[in-house]
Amino acid sequence: MKGLILSGGKGTRLYPLTYTRAKQLIPVANKPVLVRVIEMIRDAAITDIGIVIGDTGPEIREAVGDGSQWGVNVTYIPQDAPLGLAHAVRISRDFLGDDRFVMFLGDNVIEGGISGLIRQFASSDWNSQIVLKEVEEPQHFGVAELDASGQIRQLIEKPKDPPSNLALVGIYMFDHHVFEAVNAIRPSWRGELEITDAIQWLVTKGYRVFPYVHKGWWIDTGKPTDMLEANAHVLEELTPYVAGAVDADSIVDSRVTVEEGAQIINSTVRGPAIIGRNTVVRDSFIGPFTSVYHNCVIENSEIERSIVLEDSRVMHIQTRIQDSLIGRHAAVEADPRKPRAIKMNLGDHSRFWLP
Ligand code: DAU
Repeated sequence: MKGLILSGGKGTRLYPLTYTRAKQLIPVANKPVLVRVIEMIRDAAITDIGIVIGDTGPEIREAVGDGSQWGVNVTYIPQDAPLGLAHAVRISRDFLGDDRFVMFLGDNVIEGGISGLIRQFASSDWNSQIVLKEVEEPQHFGVAELDASGQIRQLIEKPKDPPSNLALVGIYMFDHHVFEAVNAIRPSWRGELEITDAIQWLVTKGYRVFPYVHKGWWIDTGKPTDMLEANAHVLEELTPYVAGAVDADSIVDSRVTVEEGAQIINSTVRGPAIIGRNTVVRDSFIGPFTSVYHNCVIENSEIERSIVLEDSRVMHIQTRIQDSLIGRHAAVEADPRKPRAIKMNLGDHSRFWLP
């Protein structure tokens, strides 16, 4: 069995973080979402992985390389334009051959434990398996309607009037019959070749497509609030460890990970939280559900339920920072000089909230 990860497309809903960065490389609990996906596929004993890349391809190649770091073999499949998930399958035909495969969207984060399901598909004779999850706003997803016996009645992409609350999760399993489907369908109203339409085609033609309803959490990290929610979930799943230095004046509870080279000085860190490599936390409070990435400085400040990306600093802020996403090389600092006004240097599409 092979793995296919879709990492093309644009991350416009995550601007400004994704102006300069592929959305799949934004870390959740200090690990890029794409790396989490690679590890999940590897845990299903799949080592041949194709990654579909678009405009941000060079950056993804640089971050993932040949995959050997995770014990997998990566082949890159360039997609000229984001013409849809089914289009991505079409162009991956040479890589996939006639093998069965699992396809993951590179921006989805899901609770662990799905690897067994994938392994099971490898030895089954089903043509496809899809993963569904009950959601509150199904109109933003592909939606499945099941019949009384739990089999698929129909699948629709982002319906205005959803027939159920079962969304298609970004994990799909196929055999080679999917190529007949992706070659037969036409672009949708949004101009994309939809994988949802391809699966509907398989169902209509009588191929065996099985729905699996996932009970754990699942997040499609499209928006900043999704990133924070995914971060909170993943932090709860981490097995914490302390490899950095915690001084005698600090309180760091048992659900906190302190990565190598990090220093916690005269501070309180309440977990679940992670402090990245070579980051310094001094005279500060780091609250639950916070991830501070590598090479940051947090000084004389309080921060909770937030993500701080690499090489950033938060200094002498007198109000607690909460529910925030702070990009790379950012500086959030108090300025004692007069006039005592708020001064900003925000990037395009940034958002800033005052109490
Ligand atoms: O997240 C689950 C949803 O993902 C499903 O419920 C929908 O049925 C499915 O169509 C998809 O919807 P999205 O609109 O959220 O897909 P998005 O455009 O965000 O693309 C998902 C991933 O695939 C993302 O990592 C970018 C990549 N991609 C996307 C397109 C359109 C490609 O690699 N190539 C593409 O052509």
